[in-house]
Amino acid sequence: MDARGGIGGSLAGVDLLGEINRLRKERNAVILAHYYQKPQIQDLADFVGDSLELSRKAAETDAEVIAFCGVRFMAETAKILSPDKTVILPDMDAGCSLEDSCPPSQFKAFREAHPDHIALSYINCSTEVKALSDIIVTSSSAEIILSKIPPEQKVIFGPDKHLGGYLNRKLGRDMLLWPGVCIVHESFSETELLKLRAQHPGAPVAAHPECPPHIVDHADYVGSTSGILAFAKALPGDTLIVATEPHIIHQMELAVPEKNFIGAPGADGNCACNICPYMAMNTMEKLYIALRDLSPRIEMDETLRLAAKKSLDRMLEMASGTVGRGDLGARD
Ligand code: 13P
Ligand code: SF4
Repeated sequence: MDARGGIGGSLAGVDLLGEINRLRKERNAVILAHYYQKPQIQDLADFVGDSLELSRKAAETDAEVIAFCGVRFMAETAKILSPDKTVILPDMDAGCSLEDSCPPSQFKAFREAHPDHIALSYINCSTEVKALSDIIVTSSSAEIILSKIPPEQKVIFGPDKHLGGYLNRKLGRDMLLWPGVCIVHESFSETELLKLRAQHPGAPVAAHPECPPHIVDHADYVGSTSGILAFAKALPGDTLIVATEPHIIHQMELAVPEKNFIGAPGADGNCACNICPYMAMNTMEKLYIALRDLSPRIEMDETLRLAAKKSLDRMLEMASGTVGRGDLGARD
């Protein structure tokens, strides 16, 4: 459809990495990537991190363009924090099941039904839900932020019921939970995990708190992606079972190539259901096109942005001092 080889056109013969490198300079662009991106995208990014680290990078960069290789709510967060920058996302359909589980109108009604509660929301939600929330958290900032909220204060937590439930159990809280789940972390099989453990006696399990309790309960370490990566780097043994999206294993293999990292299996033992289909929508081709055309780009109503910024700013203030991996730490 596009003489220059846009969507539907052929990119055969285009040196994608060379063109991305040329365009990132020409556009004064910074390329940010989440740990769940494909290895070739992680390798070319200026910065790879977890949700908190990526939000901080987006807020402090001097670049004119932020090319966000992650999902839409992450690119929207970058725009909320850096409104004067052009924020591009290689595929605007890269959503998130947690965001989808929490339509703003229903969340608003839920809040209105509990006027004595404050709303603590996981960053994996829409800009509208952020605007309806009091404080945003990521998996690496949730525990420190919740511990700063007086125990008598009633709290609504959404949209991830597993992260909220984990925090309730760990900190002895009674937050009201929105019933959302991450389709990726929900897919790990307890039976298959136990089989894998039996095959690798002594190998610890590191799990993301988006996993359900029947997975987290078998974990030796529970934390955000950056926390799991730090745990892998400090691993005393030679094997780690990783219960989160397996593309993070790329960073582990780069950091400690002599160790063995095994992704926890999904329901039938060898399905690809633990790969995030939204994160996987970003490709080298789409990143090249996005840098070339400065599109798809995030646009946002200013009133909505300012409302959402309040709850994100509160997170950045309350989490200050935490390095991206501050985290949920070892399991009780
Ligand atoms: P973190 O990288 O903050 O742990 O988030 C994981 C995730 O699922 C992002 O969508
Ligand atoms: Fe959303 Fe889960 Fe994918 Fe993260 S891994 S973007 S929480 S669907």
